[in-house]
Amino acid sequence: MTQQATTQPVAKYRKDYQSPSHTTSDIDLYFELHDSATIVTAISQVKQLRDSTTVELDGEQLGLQTLQVNGQDWSEYELLDGGLKIHQLPSEFELKIVTQIDPEANTALEGLYKSGGAFCTQCEAEGFRRITFYQDRPDVLARFTTTVEADKNTYPYLLSNGNRIDSGDLDNGRHWVKWQDPHPKPAYLFALVAGDFDVLTDQYVTRSGREVALEIFVDKGNLNRAPHAMTSLINSMKWDEERFGLEYDLDIYMIVAVDFFNMGAMENKGLNVFNSKYVLANDQTATDTDYLGIEAVIGHEYFHNWTGNRVTCQDWFQLSLKEGLTVFRDQEFSSDLGSRAVNRINNVRIIRGPQFAEDASPMSHPIRPDKVIEMNNFYTLTVYEKGSEVIRMMHTLLGEEGFQKGMKLYFERHDGTAATCENFVAAMEDASGVDLKQFRLWYSQSGTPTLDVTSHYDADKQTFSLTVVQSTEPTHEQKEKQALHIPFDIELYKYTGEAYSLIIDGKINSNVLDVTQPEQTFVFEGIESAPVPSLLREFSAPVKLNYAYSDEELIFLMRHATNDFARWDAGQMLLAKYIKSFVADTNAVVELPTEVVDAFRGVLLDNTLEPAFIAEMLTFPSHNEVSGWYKRVDVDGIAKVLKSIKQVIANELTDELSATYFALTQQAYSIEHAEIGQRSLRNVCLGYLAYTEQGNTLVEKQYYSSNNMTDTIAAMSAANSAQLACRETLMSDYSDKWKHDGLVMDKWFMLQGTNPASNALSVIRESMSHEAFSLKNPNRIRSLIGAFLNNNPVQFHATTGEGYGFAGEILRQLNESNPQVASRLIDPLLKFRLYDEARQAQIKAQLEALKSMDNLAKDLFEKVNKALES
Ligand code: TRP
Ligand code: ZN
Repeated sequence: MTQQATTQPVAKYRKDYQSPSHTTSDIDLYFELHDSATIVTAISQVKQLRDSTTVELDGEQLGLQTLQVNGQDWSEYELLDGGLKIHQLPSEFELKIVTQIDPEANTALEGLYKSGGAFCTQCEAEGFRRITFYQDRPDVLARFTTTVEADKNTYPYLLSNGNRIDSGDLDNGRHWVKWQDPHPKPAYLFALVAGDFDVLTDQYVTRSGREVALEIFVDKGNLNRAPHAMTSLINSMKWDEERFGLEYDLDIYMIVAVDFFNMGAMENKGLNVFNSKYVLANDQTATDTDYLGIEAVIGHEYFHNWTGNRVTCQDWFQLSLKEGLTVFRDQEFSSDLGSRAVNRINNVRIIRGPQFAEDASPMSHPIRPDKVIEMNNFYTLTVYEKGSEVIRMMHTLLGEEGFQKGMKLYFERHDGTAATCENFVAAMEDASGVDLKQFRLWYSQSGTPTLDVTSHYDADKQTFSLTVVQSTEPTHEQKEKQALHIPFDIELYKYTGEAYSLIIDGKINSNVLDVTQPEQTFVFEGIESAPVPSLLREFSAPVKLNYAYSDEELIFLMRHATNDFARWDAGQMLLAKYIKSFVADTNAVVELPTEVVDAFRGVLLDNTLEPAFIAEMLTFPSHNEVSGWYKRVDVDGIAKVLKSIKQVIANELTDELSATYFALTQQAYSIEHAEIGQRSLRNVCLGYLAYTEQGNTLVEKQYYSSNNMTDTIAAMSAANSAQLACRETLMSDYSDKWKHDGLVMDKWFMLQGTNPASNALSVIRESMSHEAFSLKNPNRIRSLIGAFLNNNPVQFHATTGEGYGFAGEILRQLNESNPQVASRLIDPLLKFRLYDEARQAQIKAQLEALKSMDNLAKDLFEKVNKALES
């Protein structure tokens, strides 16, 4: 019998958390793998934790075949929607459950499914319940022993968590392998893979001398795309020992790359499963961005071994405990290995763009949510990226030493258990002595705070005062907001470029001011003349800053700020001033004052700056980031202004851009950071030059002489943005070359998705019948359709409403095949209140059509309802 979900989805609340009635100390799993009828036998040792003779198990889409307690057939059970209740149980018992499942029919890619020819699993957050009936909650930790049995020819590799302890052949052409994971873990960290792969192997010796076998499994023929992942893994292991004093704890670490995967990667104990996008790379198939993405994600999943696996989450509301902290760790890893400034800039772009937008949307939630219908909807920018900013603020308040003491205490207290965000903050507080009472509000309050800052210089008293007013607008789910503890990092500059010591009440103060009140004034003494303040250095808190900087002050900071991030940020603020003024009057002729153009010219010609950093200085805020500055978004106006300003800079700086472009000639490809930086600057120059007369010639030449994917894609992308004559030829040349490789074609699909031409949508529809495209593959969906919805503002929001109609069509299909992917794709539609009435009505009609579907998945149900009730 197979269950069907029928009832209306219900919300779960954080305040209703109850510890489990029972726990499982050991679970022994046997998988008899078959494409459409896999048999799973689970034998668990279960113990009562409080006085309850009933246990509730989660289960979805399972065929129950056998249920036994202590070896006896047990009839005291009820099969419910979403689970099973077993009654009249003794206080300790052995539970045997046999279920049948259908991996081949599993297009949702949750639980056990087939990716290409291989079996694989995805259990976080609540996928294990699609494998067997179990207490599928992160606070039940058990030792897993897993035997995998399958046909030996088709599935020579049979993998699961932990160490391989036994194996054998059966006489029907099948074989089996038995794995044992000594570390108790929640079910969401369970994994199984069966298939035929090429394997890249290596070894790592931990600093205490443990020898760890490293194995990366990729599709046959892809071995030459695995070395960068291996290097990144070894670098991660080394870095975690050096910076955090954390060592790996098993004898083997396996990574499997699969083509069908809903997210980036998954940290299953000892057996990570990765989206192949975050493993496979060589110079012909991957860009520098891909290489850096692989390093970051390999690091992220590896760092989860301590922050996530050794210490896991009590309940899913605590997700940021592991995700915010692990993102912080992977950001630090990338910053220690590469350019700290460039990494910080790109992380801040994500917060200021998509995270701020999420916090202003109907899905707004605190980094520790209070109410959840579908947990998959809460793997968000808020939980991950803002979560990481919250950890980073604690790091700023405590310093590296205090923070590391806090980490040490956290592991002393909670290793081997399921913990809460509160436990983490308490460890930080207790280890450092820093009071984090008010700081805790960051966990419960949603929305983006604004700091309105004004200043006053008193020449007589030689004081400079900064008045900081903080406020947070009400969000969809939370109307009342309180003042937060905001670390506000500043510097005050003399006109010579030297920084003043910050003296308050006769004492030297740190650069990080504690903003804790709704309104607060800081008076700095001994200031001989009006200074230029550098505010919110390093983006020391995830807030919006308003300060009435003059152009002269911003240009000064672009040149003289001691901190690279502050220099970049000054440049962005300067651009923002002009973008805002032209968006307010889209008929005005777009021009920039000479001093502004010269400031950017100065950056381009400054040979003391790293090329990678110059490239960031010359990169504008995106259409999405600019949209976030408004309550009502003028989609076309913003696009027009951004393009015109780019054109102005291209025209004014043509000579310098060309000189830089030609000075940075193409070298033999290597992924050294210095060379990544040079390619990045060269390609930023090309992006501007595409808007000049030589554009078509330069772009075409770069495409045909490129020896690596970074330069190839940069040429195509310049041709796409500037709509150069060569665009079509380059696109078809690329497609002829790569049509058999979905991952490489994703870059091509992305260019079709973001095509600014007015026929973009019809070309996108055609691209859906390209041989490399499939609506079953999440990467393809994101590259083509996700790019159109998120990064093609003018065409997606075309007043005909055709873009919205297309989105609705796709969402209705994905609702059935893969709700998790559908639910990520729908986000831009939830923000309909940002647009004019006509567009609002058209978007709302699509949401209503979804709402009226009788089989609407929980994932979309939660978002559509929130958006429509707002
Ligand atoms: N825990 C994973 C990570 O952050 C991400 C993850 C959560 C995931 N749910 C998922 C991955 C579902 C794939 C599918 O690294
Ligand atoms: Zn993670």
